[in-house]
Amino acid sequence: MNVALIAASGLAAVVGIAAWKIRSCREIDIISFVINNIAIKMRLFKLIAMLGLTERMRPDKAVKFVTANGFVHTAESPMFRAVLDYVWKLDVRDNDVFVATYPKAGTTWMQEIVWLICNNVDIEAAKKTVLTRRSVFMDMIDVGHARGFQSLETWPSDKQRIVKTHLPFEILPRDATVGKKGKIVYVARNPKDSCVSYFHFHHIVRAFAKTGTWGEFLTKFCNGDVSYGDWFSHIIKYWEEFRKDPSRIYFTTYETLQADLPREVKSIAEFLGRDLSDEQINTIAEHCTFESMRNNKSTNHEGTAEEGAFDFSKFKFMRRGQVGDWKNYFTINQSAEFDDLFEKKMEGTGLESKFEF
Ligand code: A3P
Repeated sequence: MNVALIAASGLAAVVGIAAWKIRSCREIDIISFVINNIAIKMRLFKLIAMLGLTERMRPDKAVKFVTANGFVHTAESPMFRAVLDYVWKLDVRDNDVFVATYPKAGTTWMQEIVWLICNNVDIEAAKKTVLTRRSVFMDMIDVGHARGFQSLETWPSDKQRIVKTHLPFEILPRDATVGKKGKIVYVARNPKDSCVSYFHFHHIVRAFAKTGTWGEFLTKFCNGDVSYGDWFSHIIKYWEEFRKDPSRIYFTTYETLQADLPREVKSIAEFLGRDLSDEQINTIAEHCTFESMRNNKSTNHEGTAEEGAFDFSKFKFMRRGQVGDWKNYFTINQSAEFDDLFEKKMEGTGLESKFEF
């Protein structure tokens, strides 16, 4: 048999086995991680979408696993266990700034603000390079062009790192928690609005678990059975750490940003040790309005390398950008049950009156 024929049969066998084994988008994440080729993953996602198989190929639910330091974490794929091992050992630099949030709290918004504060309000540079390349998503298997932690490891030493993370405080890099290196800007959002936003985002991300109905999703959110786990413990832990050391952790809310963006930009700049003029503060605030960021290719996640992982046909990443959208989704009963849960979980934390319901 000639070599070409053997090679072709081998390739056909590999493709056949892969097709047989790939039951959900989760396996594509795993393949992409193992072979470290993001372009193939994006093409596979697009192919699945073209074949109309996206919904069918979503995993049934998020997975729980125990990390190296004994924390029970919930993620989209078991592959995140390996990612978190690297993240845990990541060298943190003294001038690193972590933008930490539970998903859908306004992370992108804060990343853009912090990047501009730390980069001399260079609006032109911000527009020229997509945010995912300026501010790396540390705990993502592969957003944009590389694994998050690898981009950080190879980040030029003369450039400040603005690091996006959704990780609970307990599993941030050891250097940041035990070693207390770098600063953290944490954004919290009314959990009802976060949940509504996350519900819609589940329709967008192809590798996320099946979304289900609104009611089903709400139950999963309340039980912490979604990627990144329990909203309550996430915010409570960061809040406690902020109260212990407000010089290293800044704690704010989506609602505070909405109420007076220039004031908040000024306050974050002070926390980061940057002296901005009123004009610079206003420039940032104008550049970071919802409308402006929605129409900005650098921040709206459209047309970027990772777009294959998203399906924007039903909802945009920059969806509504409002406070109180939850009222359009929660029934009276769902709202009352959530309020009870909130009261129970938040009792004694000092966070009881942080959000208006
Ligand atoms: P909605 O889905 O409620 O519209 P994250 O970046 O953490 O994924 O959060 C995304 C949410 O923040 C989305 O909420 C998005 O519309 C909103 N958002 C992003 N940029 C914003 C801005 N400049 N102003 C207000 N909301 C913004």
